[in-house]
Amino acid sequence: MSRNTELFERAQRVIPGGVNSPVRAFRAVGGTPRFIQRAEGAYLVDADGKRYIDYIGSWGPMILGHGHPEVVEAVQRAVTEGFSYGAPTEREIELAEEILKLVPSAEQVRLVSSGTEAAMTAIRLARGATGRSKLIKFEGCYHGHADALLVKAGSGLATFGHPTSAGVPAEVVQHTLVLPYNDVAALEAAFAAHGAEIACVMVEPIAGNMNFVRASLPFVQAMRQLCTQHGALLVFDEVMSGFRVALGSAQSIYAKALPGFAPDLSVFGKVIGGGMPLAAFAGPKDVMGKLAPLGPVYQAGTLSGNPVATACGLATLKLIQRPGFFEALGATTRSLVDGLLGAARAAGVPMVGDCEGGMFGFFFPKPEQDFSAHPGGLPQNYTEVMATDGPRFNAFFHGMLDRGVYLAPALYEAGFVSAAHTAGDIAATVAAAAAALRG
Ligand SMILES: Cc1ncc(COP(=O)(O)O)c(C=O)c1O
Repeated sequence: MSRNTELFERAQRVIPGGVNSPVRAFRAVGGTPRFIQRAEGAYLVDADGKRYIDYIGSWGPMILGHGHPEVVEAVQRAVTEGFSYGAPTEREIELAEEILKLVPSAEQVRLVSSGTEAAMTAIRLARGATGRSKLIKFEGCYHGHADALLVKAGSGLATFGHPTSAGVPAEVVQHTLVLPYNDVAALEAAFAAHGAEIACVMVEPIAGNMNFVRASLPFVQAMRQLCTQHGALLVFDEVMSGFRVALGSAQSIYAKALPGFAPDLSVFGKVIGGGMPLAAFAGPKDVMGKLAPLGPVYQAGTLSGNPVATACGLATLKLIQRPGFFEALGATTRSLVDGLLGAARAAGVPMVGDCEGGMFGFFFPKPEQDFSAHPGGLPQNYTEVMATDGPRFNAFFHGMLDRGVYLAPALYEAGFVSAAHTAGDIAATVAAAAAALRG
């Protein structure tokens, strides 16, 4: 019996579903999750000793690959100085300064321990700063599992959502309006109906929780204009895209296309912790000044700004600023997507895909789906993503896993490439795809 199977059976006796975060259970694709024994560079090694080229990278943080020697050294040094103090450290200031240097839209940043915590607090802050209750989010965007954000769309435009999780009372999401992504008309209708009550619009600017879908320029422009016009805050959730799609995060890409563009608040996680529990939210001084101890919006954390996590994050952020880092990472990721699309074309399998920096996505459109008139020829929202060919994705996922390539185990998840992935890894991945697509 595979040791993965053995461990999964044992895990299910003591951990609900055998996992500590649901997508790890392989429910979407079926089969037995791989229990990871160790990771190195671009590779994961499972409990059977089988090696995989890793395209999850811990769902985003491992932009340098696993165990980068300079990061390991920084963490080892930090560990010898103590695990946690519950008192401020110079390293927190250094990390804050580093983040703010790379994100000009923000003047101050608060460090927390998870993306969920950061997104949840950004909303509390937006509500506290505006004195309003309602928030807009978009179908297919995930902002962590805070109650107010576990919402699916209501039955019509500009209606409030329904909880997507048991245990979330309807009253808790009554202020959350869920709209389709990339739909300017729906956004305009929502502001027309509720503009004076909206505290914030929260969005993944390059969404990684419905595979890989970019916010269109008109959509970003509309979010910015409507928020400004109605006194709401625009919150970019860059937990996934932050320091991953570009050194300045997704907002730097939109600022290039739309001069002067900036969100009001930004939420970060993943890369800024380099694989340790660390996240942050950031914004202008007048808004951030509403936080305790300066202002009335409460937020706190025993492990916030943890000295080992900040050492890991700081070392990671320093390394990704080396000249040419993102150019090289972007080129590697592009070569992967081009290779996958080429393999699909050769196999006569419809596939479309996209990437930015070290993040990518690919889709198997169904015969009746025609994205050719869409920007980039790609799906633009959650409904379109979820209507792509699930059985084909699942077969491809397992075909790749069998061949030693670890992709995200669900068609609605983005993929991640690290600086440790070599041209040889990409070539091996493309060869595996060619074989998997031939069946
Ligand atoms: C865009 C986005 N926001 C928030 C979160 C929640 O972060 P965490 O899992 O660290 O709580 C995630 C997690 O994947 C995410 O992708």
